[in-house]
Amino acid sequence: MIASELSKSQSSPMAKSPLRNKASSCFSDVFLYLGGALLAFLLVWSLWSYAGPDIAGGFPPRVTDSKLRFGFDSRGCLQEEPAVNLRYDPPDRTFYDDPELRYSIEHRIKDWDEKRKEWLKYHPSFAAGARDRVVMVTGSQPKPCKNPIGDHLLLRLFKNKVDYCRIHGYDIFYNNVLLHPKMNSFWAKLPAVKAAMLAHPGAEWIWWVDSDAMFSDMEYKLPLRRYDYKNHNMVVHGWANLIYDEKSWTALNAGVFLIRNCQWSMDFMDSWAQMGPIGPEYVKWGHIQRSIFKDKLFPGSDDQTALIYQIYKDKSLLDKIYLEGEYYFEGYWLEIVKTYDNATEKYMEMERENPKLRRRHAEKVSEQYGAFRESQLNEAGNAKGSWRRPFITHFTGCQPCSGNHNELYKGDSCWNAMTRALNYADNQVLRNYGFMRPDLRDTKTVVETPFDYPDDGPW
Ligand SMILES: *[C@@H]1O[C@H](CO)[C@@H](O)[C@H](O)[C@H]1NC(C)=O
Repeated sequence: MIASELSKSQSSPMAKSPLRNKASSCFSDVFLYLGGALLAFLLVWSLWSYAGPDIAGGFPPRVTDSKLRFGFDSRGCLQEEPAVNLRYDPPDRTFYDDPELRYSIEHRIKDWDEKRKEWLKYHPSFAAGARDRVVMVTGSQPKPCKNPIGDHLLLRLFKNKVDYCRIHGYDIFYNNVLLHPKMNSFWAKLPAVKAAMLAHPGAEWIWWVDSDAMFSDMEYKLPLRRYDYKNHNMVVHGWANLIYDEKSWTALNAGVFLIRNCQWSMDFMDSWAQMGPIGPEYVKWGHIQRSIFKDKLFPGSDDQTALIYQIYKDKSLLDKIYLEGEYYFEGYWLEIVKTYDNATEKYMEMERENPKLRRRHAEKVSEQYGAFRESQLNEAGNAKGSWRRPFITHFTGCQPCSGNHNELYKGDSCWNAMTRALNYADNQVLRNYGFMRPDLRDTKTVVETPFDYPDDGPW
C-alpha cells in the first residue's frame, strides 16, 4: 500500500544541513478558513491550467574552462561563480549509460542518491554548488490556446518566471507535451518533474510552478536552509489542521511545489502517480478521495487530493513534506492582488528613507538589494493585512489558456487582475533596466525612472 512505501524515507546525500530554525506560522485561522471554503467551491471549474510538456530554456552560468573559474578570462570578461563546466562530460560510466534506465513515470528508479552522487563525482564543477541548485519546471498544453489572449498571457506568465530565474540564478525548463499520454491535465506535472530530476543530477531541487502562477515579489529568495534543517524533501503551501481536522481538499495547493532530487522523492512520486490515470485503481481512488474530503465536488482522482490523502493516512510524511505557511509560497489571487497597492506604498517609503535600497545597480547583483530589504521587512507580517509583497500569486480558477474561467469571477476580473499582477512584477524587473509603468492597468506605457528615484520628486 502507498502509505507503507512512503515511510521508507531517505534523505539526499547532498542535504546535510545545519542552520536556522523554523519561524512560527503567521496566518490567522479565519483567513485560512474563508480562503479554503471559497477555494473549494471555485476550484470545481478550475484547478489547473497546465496540460503538458518540450523546449528547454536555461540560464546556466557559462564557463568553458575550469581554470578560469574565478576572475577574468582571456578576453578580460568577468566570469560568474560558482562556475560550472558545460563542456566537460568524461567517458566514465554513469546512470546515463545504463540501457535499463527509463525516464517514463511508469518505471521506477533505484539507488538514485548513489547515482546522483556518482555523477557529481565525475562532474566536480557541479558538485560545489549542488546543494542550492534549483531547476524550475513549468509548462502548458501542446496546442494553441482557445482563449484568443491565452497564448499572450502564457507568454507573459512564462516571461515572469524566466525573469525570476535569471535574477536568482536558477535554470528553467518549459514543457509543452504530455510525457505520458495518460497523465494529462493536473497529472502532467509528475512525468515532467521526474524527467527533470534525471536531466539535472546537478540540481538538488526541482521546483514545479503551474503556468497560471507568477512571481509577484522578484526579490524574495527561497529559504532553502529552512527545508534542509530537518531534511525535508518536499515543500508545498498548506496547513496541517486543514488536512487532519477539516479534511479539506484545499488543505494544500499542489500547483507549486519544491521537491528534492533524491530517492525519497522518486519513491514518493511513484506512489503519488499510482493514484492517477496510470494506476490500476484510478477510479477507486476518486471515490475514496471524495468520501474523505467532502468539499471535493468532482469525481475523478486528482493530484492535489491524492497528495493530501497520503499525508492524511500517514502523518509521519510530515517529517519529509514541509507545509509552508509562513509566506506566500503560492497565494490565491483574489485574496492578494488587492494587497499590491499597500505593498508598493510601503516599499517606496522604505526606499525614500534608505538610499541604500534605492541605489541603481546591475541586475545581476539584485539579490543583495533583496537581502537589504529583507532585514527591514520583519514587521510586515504574512497574514491578511501584511504589506509584504506576496511571493507567488496563483490565478487559480482563471484558466488563461482555455478561457473557461470560473463563472463566479465577473466579466474580465481574471484578465484585469492578471494584467495588473504581471505589470506589478514586471515593474520590479524593469526598474533595473531604467524604466517603469506608471499605471499597472496600462501595459504599453513606460516612463524612464529618474536618478535617485523615488527620493523627492512628484511621485
Ligand atoms: C491597506 O492599508 C490600509 C491602511 O493601513 C488598511 O486599512 C487596508 O486594509 C490595507 N488594504 C489591504 C488590502 O490590505
